[in-house]
Amino acid sequence: MKVLSVVGARPQFIKLAPVHKALVRSGNEHVIIHTGQHYDHSMSEIFFEDLGIPAPGENLSIGSASHARQTGLMLEALETSILRHAPDYVLAYGDTNSTLAAALASVKIHQRLAHLEAGLRSFNRLMPEEHNRVLTDHASDILLAPTEIAYNNLVNEGLGQRSYVVGDVMTDVLLETFKKVQQNPPTMPTEWSIGSVFVVATIHRQENTDDPVRLRQIIEYLASSQMEIRLIVHPRLAAKAQEFGLDLRIGKITPYPALAYPQLLTALSEAVGVVTDSGGLQKEAFLMRTPCITVRTETEWVETVSLGWNVLAPNCDVEISQVFQGFYPPTDSAPFGDGNAASRVVEVLSHNL
Ligand code: UD1
Repeated sequence: MKVLSVVGARPQFIKLAPVHKALVRSGNEHVIIHTGQHYDHSMSEIFFEDLGIPAPGENLSIGSASHARQTGLMLEALETSILRHAPDYVLAYGDTNSTLAAALASVKIHQRLAHLEAGLRSFNRLMPEEHNRVLTDHASDILLAPTEIAYNNLVNEGLGQRSYVVGDVMTDVLLETFKKVQQNPPTMPTEWSIGSVFVVATIHRQENTDDPVRLRQIIEYLASSQMEIRLIVHPRLAAKAQEFGLDLRIGKITPYPALAYPQLLTALSEAVGVVTDSGGLQKEAFLMRTPCITVRTETEWVETVSLGWNVLAPNCDVEISQVFQGFYPPTDSAPFGDGNAASRVVEVLSHNL
């Protein structure tokens, strides 16, 4: 079987790692196409290096642009690449513009398409990620759902017959990498003092960064916390803060550049809590049993909330130190799978060939 993975943004490189290993282990051919949506070394290459993924077969070097232009440029370039490689499946990951471009390019040329991380829904149609997910799911031939809840969303949209629960490949990569991190801790950025009580924070979603009033509200919320906040700065946040004249080094905030994946896991394991708008981080926090505050009106990962480890705070009105001094119910629950999702992905794809 020949699979062509289309990736372009940071979370997709993380998901790609276990899938690549599982495909190669089972003797399949795997072609990786990088759209170039994320291009900084700290947002892209470093993940390939740390997670043992070979360099992409092609990098389309699309880079940043408006949604339409970025997606359109990818669409055109991907059509050529997919036709040239003629894979059995195109595999699209998650919910970015690279995902949508892979889906549209495939469906137009009758290329068999599978979607990894299918069925997630925020039901918030203002999020670009939500359009990307819904459109990709409906275009796909095989839907690989990470959780039962995601599978049920697909069933509710009439997509049950093409859908499979495989587990979450982010659990695979987290468990494997954290084991290595414990044996061989990564060097942390300078200024990263060990042993102190701190919170890890990340903010990057368009709905939180692109409106100056909203972004100021979030920065002031973090700055006024009673706990030290280590803000890991995504390039979108850096660009918008600069554009709006907002200083990120204020109050309790210390800004840090983007972390490599092993560094991020170390930070999560040492932190007393996480404040974020990232989907991946909410889940990673839960897997590490680090409590989380999510600065959004809703989450796709509702299991983290129902199990008591994640609190939604869209209005920035819950006191960070109070939340993280609270009681967190111990749980063995594993809604995100057992660490073998990537092998199941390969099984489902082979079985449906
Ligand atoms: C994208 C995804 C989002 C995902 C996130 C993970 C979409 C619509 N959004 O958001 O679902 O959670 O990736 O990071 O696809 N930039 C750099 N260097 C880089 C990459 C980006 O400087 O390597 C800057 C550019 O100024 C760009 C901005 O960050 O305009 C935003 O990048 P973009 O690719 O539009 O989306 P993200 O916010 O990263």
